Amino acid sequence: MKNKLIAQFQAVFGRSPEFVTRAPGRIEFIGNHTDYNGGTVLGAAVDRNIWVAIARRDDGQRRFFSAQGGEIITMPSGIPEKQEGLSKWTNYALGVIAAFPHFGLKVPEGFDYYDMSDLPAGAGMSSSAAIELASVLAFLEITGQADKVDRETVVKIGKHAENHFVGMPCGILDQGVSGFGKKDHLVFIDCRGPVFATVPIPAGAHFWIFNTHKKHALVDGFYAARNRECMEAAKALGVPLLADANATLLDKAEAEGRLKGDALKRARHVIEEIARVGETQKALAKGDLAAAGRLLTASHRSSQYLFENSVEELDTLVDALVATPHVYGSRLTGGGFGGAVMAMTDAAFGGEQAAQVVAAYEKKYGAKPDVIHCQTGDGAAVM
Ligand code: GLA
Repeated sequence: MKNKLIAQFQAVFGRSPEFVTRAPGRIEFIGNHTDYNGGTVLGAAVDRNIWVAIARRDDGQRRFFSAQGGEIITMPSGIPEKQEGLSKWTNYALGVIAAFPHFGLKVPEGFDYYDMSDLPAGAGMSSSAAIELASVLAFLEITGQADKVDRETVVKIGKHAENHFVGMPCGILDQGVSGFGKKDHLVFIDCRGPVFATVPIPAGAHFWIFNTHKKHALVDGFYAARNRECMEAAKALGVPLLADANATLLDKAEAEGRLKGDALKRARHVIEEIARVGETQKALAKGDLAAAGRLLTASHRSSQYLFENSVEELDTLVDALVATPHVYGSRLTGGGFGGAVMAMTDAAFGGEQAAQVVAAYEKKYGAKPDVIHCQTGDGAAVM
């Protein structure tokens, strides 16, 4: 990939890149919508990445090109403005530039920037966090500031770009996993600190992604709405964040009529989901994949009925997967309102079983989901 990227950079810009960086996509293993509520979450970096090649320019021009297609996009130096239309994909890199001063860093001025990906976009594996982190590392290199920041700051710069420039009120899961990923490990994040740790994946666990390509037209609006509902529920419970509450507090608020309807359901999901993350850690530590799998499926049911961020297509896939031999558990992965489900299986789950699941889906919807047997990989790096 690196050699191909360098060759293509040379073909487009007529010179060699100075630095090459890459950052992986992620699987959300368990902990759905817990991150911005100050909770805990487990995810895995995959061995598919967004790659960035970069070289400085003296004339202050910023030139962007994506291997995904299009033309060279040229922009002036300074603090960037949000783009619409064909240059919209540059918002992730521009958001990183705009974030630099907030972390006491000088912004990169002129450069040639080439982006390439072997991470399928829209597959629920967070290509946006990957492009943000690959960009952070590239811009730190060309400005000679790589020694000034630690890994946690790299992650926070990516999240800042997403929250304040792209405009998505996400938590730290995607950037955290892309930054701290480790092959054959899950990344555990206590999002309040944040505190990052890695947890070995027991031998024999396999991860599969089934991507529906369905995306609710209002997905960003729904995500923001859930975020708001959670903050309101926390307020009604008298705590700063839902992670500060617990089941007893919730039951009391319900009995006293202080929390009801959707707010109650959202809060119950988050509080129980945080507990499930803890249970999953215990199951993994014992190598009990069956127990971990049951928790994954319970997480999906909670998203389906309490957080209501699933869609029928995802439920259909989860139902088909959990009825298939060799599947430990299955759940939607990521924000929801469309997207993908993940399944944890044993080694005997293969193409034949996946095809059965695809067939059940196709019969109902007349379209096939994409299937990816995911391998885990290492976090973002300069190559
Ligand atoms: C998206 C967000 C994450 C997280 C998940 C849901 O992937 O970017 O921050 O909230 O949804 O768990």
